[in-house]
Amino acid sequence: MASTSNEEKKPWDSSNLRKYCLNFGEVPRFHFDDPRVDECIRSNKPVIILGTNLVKPAVEKWNLGYMEQNMGAALNTVYFSKSHKFKYFDENKMLGRSNPKGVQFTPPIRKEDMLIGDFIRTMRDWKQGEERLYMQQSLTSAVGTNIVQDFVNFNWKWISSKQKLHKWGKLTSNLLYVSQEGNVTPCHYDEQENFFAQVLGYKRCILFPPDQFQCMYPHPVHHPHDRQSMVDMDKPDHVRFPKFKEAKGVEAVIGPGEVLYIPIYWWHHVESLMRMGPTITVNFWYKAGPTVIQYPLKDHQKVSIMRNIEKMVLEVLRDPNEVGPLLRNVVLGRFED
Ligand code: OGA
Ligand code: ZN
Repeated sequence: MASTSNEEKKPWDSSNLRKYCLNFGEVPRFHFDDPRVDECIRSNKPVIILGTNLVKPAVEKWNLGYMEQNMGAALNTVYFSKSHKFKYFDENKMLGRSNPKGVQFTPPIRKEDMLIGDFIRTMRDWKQGEERLYMQQSLTSAVGTNIVQDFVNFNWKWISSKQKLHKWGKLTSNLLYVSQEGNVTPCHYDEQENFFAQVLGYKRCILFPPDQFQCMYPHPVHHPHDRQSMVDMDKPDHVRFPKFKEAKGVEAVIGPGEVLYIPIYWWHHVESLMRMGPTITVNFWYKAGPTVIQYPLKDHQKVSIMRNIEKMVLEVLRDPNEVGPLLRNVVLGRFED
């Protein structure tokens, strides 16, 4: 039977997706001029936005060959991982005031500054069993003139109108992600609003709302893995993290030209689909707008409060090992009914 005309044929199927123990709902997909786009953004809900032409010049031109020719001679940040997971860590939290005793921490990934040519050659020659690579480089004026020109030709009119409408703060950075197929950025949240623009290949994003803090088990704020979930989605430890089973997430698979809105403080896990070639993404991180205090507070505002409490307790106790026991004593047995 012929497929219905408005059901677009997807180039991927479930065999391109990693398997997890949870089921996910679907992130809605709307055309950029559908009023429901702004409804989603206004209520801090993820949405896939179609037809924005946000990164059109990149969608039309950027691939590994074009990047190799045009990125220029600057060095780029490339992460290497022995597994498919690239769990981010904050180097500043490895030693120093927040970690005075130098709590043991072995970075799960290593970082190398590479010329674009070396990165792309290593990626092309890559064989199963070798360390995986993932380039995550801030787009600055140091990139070559053609890339700068493409960047200038992004649809700033559209994105600035959204920034204004939703009273976001300033654009802080654009990160360029160039990934091998199958790479995963494990579940974490960011403290900024994000328009995540897919340029090449397909990525799946699994998102959980900020009110699921209890299900996600974030590392302590002082830990190098701050903002990252302690749960390994590949093999969740249901004894240590029993509530993870109850997490209710939504998923989105986005392809070239599609933009995913990742609301501030929403948990997200990102995977480049398996066996579908390399991926390129550019994200747009915006500062949150001015804080509006209206009760009841929003879930993400409560997460922010929890972060501040944790930071203050560490500040006065000075020893990260004392933070958990003190906070436990504050609540244990005291707030039941
Ligand atoms: C982000 C993000 C990860 C990825 O844009 O906030 O987490 O692998 N991206 O694309
Ligand atoms: Zn992120």
